[in-house]
Amino acid sequence: MSVMYSSITKKIWMSLMGLFLMIFLVVHLGINLLLLFDSTRELYNVVAHFMGTNPVIQIFQWVLFLGFAIHIVLGVLLQIQNWIARPKGYKVKATSEDSFFSKYMIHTGIIIFVFLGIHFLNFFFRVKIFHDIPDFILDGVNTGMEDMGIVVIELFKIPGYVVGYIIALLILGFHLDHAFQSAFQSLGLNHEKYTPFIKGLGHIYSIVISLGYIVIPLVIYFTK
Ligand code: HEM
Repeated sequence: MSVMYSSITKKIWMSLMGLFLMIFLVVHLGINLLLLFDSTRELYNVVAHFMGTNPVIQIFQWVLFLGFAIHIVLGVLLQIQNWIARPKGYKVKATSEDSFFSKYMIHTGIIIFVFLGIHFLNFFFRVKIFHDIPDFILDGVNTGMEDMGIVVIELFKIPGYVVGYIIALLILGFHLDHAFQSAFQSLGLNHEKYTPFIKGLGHIYSIVISLGYIVIPLVIYFTK
């Protein structure tokens, strides 16, 4: 019973952290899209500078790291518990209720984790630790801000990086497709009437997020 209880507690925390990360993904996508709508990169760089320096956002950033850490640690623990509870070699067939992606949450999760590491090396560490981002020069004047926009554009000019990015974002989409409805289920919302609607919303959310992020490297690679 105590194992059951602790699993349920873990699921609730996972779902809350997962939903929080899902909101963050929307905000992050909104900021990334700015790069496509302003060829001077000013809009994107101003927002990136704000996100990198505003004291409230700096605190929020630690909340976000904590959210990721809790989600990842609990995800791995739940998976290990599942493997232990299910004897080796004994395969449970997914019921028609289970989506295809539900069986691969730990696998898609680990790939997202690797992607996050690369993402951190390319952006966060460069800004906060290596300090090697070029200055943003606008109309010949040094704005005193970093030119994060050019860093993104340079990366999205590398074919291998674009392909890897697209694969990672598709995999994130697969994770999110099951995650969305699973989070509501973990929070106790399982209703004949509402669950199909939540599943539908999950499909829309995961497609919009995945394709929204994927459009950016494609536009940059082929047009800039
Ligand atoms: C932006 C990144 C991510 C978002 C938005 C996200 C979101 C979610 C959400 C909402 C759930 C459903 C939780 C529930 O069923 O209660 C979930 C499940 C899961 N996530 Fe993530 N996740 C992300 C990254 C990761 C990473 C990096 C890992 C692990 C390395 C991971 C591992 C898992 C696992 C194993 C589950 C299934 C847990 C279970 O039902 O037993 N996730 N994710």
